[in-house]
Amino acid sequence: MVKISRRKILKYTVGAGALLGGSFGAFKVYNKSSEVAVVHSKPLPIPPLLSGTKSDGQTVFNLSMQKGVSQFVVGKETATYGYNGTYLGPALVMNKGDDVVINVTNNLGESTTTHWHGLHLPARMDGGPYSVIENGDTWTAQFKIMNEASTYFYHPHLLHNTAEQVYRGLAGLFIIRDPGNEPDLPNQYGVDDIPLVVQDRSFNTDGSLRFSGEIEGVKGDKVLVNGGITPIFEAPAQFVRFRVLNVSNARIYNFGFSDNRKFYQVGTDGGSLESPVPLTKLLLAPAERAEILVDFSGQENQEVRLVSYSGEVASLSPFWMPDAQDNKTFDVLTINVKPATENAITTMPDRLSTIIPLQESQANVTRKLSLEFSIIGFKMTINGQSMDMNRIDQTVQLGDTEIWEFTNPSGMVHPFHIHDIQFQILSRNGELPPENERGWKDTVLVKQDETVRIIAKFDDFADPDIAYMYHCHILGHEDSGMMGQFLVV
Ligand code: C2O
Ligand code: CU
Ligand code: CU
Repeated sequence: MVKISRRKILKYTVGAGALLGGSFGAFKVYNKSSEVAVVHSKPLPIPPLLSGTKSDGQTVFNLSMQKGVSQFVVGKETATYGYNGTYLGPALVMNKGDDVVINVTNNLGESTTTHWHGLHLPARMDGGPYSVIENGDTWTAQFKIMNEASTYFYHPHLLHNTAEQVYRGLAGLFIIRDPGNEPDLPNQYGVDDIPLVVQDRSFNTDGSLRFSGEIEGVKGDKVLVNGGITPIFEAPAQFVRFRVLNVSNARIYNFGFSDNRKFYQVGTDGGSLESPVPLTKLLLAPAERAEILVDFSGQENQEVRLVSYSGEVASLSPFWMPDAQDNKTFDVLTINVKPATENAITTMPDRLSTIIPLQESQANVTRKLSLEFSIIGFKMTINGQSMDMNRIDQTVQLGDTEIWEFTNPSGMVHPFHIHDIQFQILSRNGELPPENERGWKDTVLVKQDETVRIIAKFDDFADPDIAYMYHCHILGHEDSGMMGQFLVV
């Protein structure tokens, strides 16, 4: 069993002290921006695609978790972690129905795990805190791809120690395709089908990543997209699909464009929406994904920036007080429009998929989860309890449909994630969720004092011994105990 180390406890205590201080006004430490010159403006890095090798009807992928050195600060080196590289990892591309084998080798010099976020698979293959990979070992996950075509991701999930490993660079994408059944959307990877892994980081003057283990989650003052700091993307003058992923430890973004243009959300965490939803702002909390379509037709030689209008939603800071970035609009990506490509998609389908709503009347069980902060012990808890590997919090009967009702008296916001399943949001404070949330989700933002009800069917996989996790995806909250576990039996 992994035990919380003395070092961690010290970190949480120091963090909580700072946090308390913060609520009394001494928050400057977080607002101070790092005065380091960073390496800007390189072209947008595109994560390499990895399609695996076929063997005996299976598709085999090899991932190595390793240490590396990255160039973020002018004239300095930054020690980072990556999968098969120095920072982040390759995009694993696969089709629905594929049988995949993923070998994960840990060369980090410390224990870790790798979890497949959003995927529906047996608990034993899920890569959560039960599947520790010791340094030098290889762990093999083997499962069938049952999810809808969409964008998912993988990242470490070690008990009490997820935040730091992710912050150092460990995360990568899954792109699940479903040829013949997906809507006709731009799909030339790297040309008009572009992943945007958005993260925030701060750097010390010596080039090192500035990570602190405060329980409210670490935020940074520089924005990285696919591992490049506020880079430039050359977009063809046509419809472009962006697969936007918030892989930040704590920051919530309110994406939009500098010219306030309209764009269309076509997908959520776990699949396509029924039809494109026009938006000018897109709120995305840690671990949430959105596929959006942006029309650059006829805009050759123009420049537009993807920005975060964070000042408009500063109250959604996971801190008790927003940091400097939360209070303003900041750049994420500069887009320069270039000539269109030859086989450009010129129209947007008006029908994308059919989503059959799960009905409340189908539910066998309703569970209530209260997301809390306990001043005694400075702990983030669920129903007053902090994560304990020796305690199973919920037992779900295989095949049941369940409603989970989240309430949030903590004074903070919590993007809440459940392993194993994709769910539908029934309501936010009794109202239907906004149209762009009426799709399959595995993470939902629960705002201060909000009641959010979700519904899901727990199908296919039961295991009396290995549990799935549910937790807040602000990684500092998760590490400090805002996590629980459920068995499906
Ligand atoms: Cu993205 Cu429990 O994980
Ligand atoms: Cu997950
Ligand atoms: Cu949280």
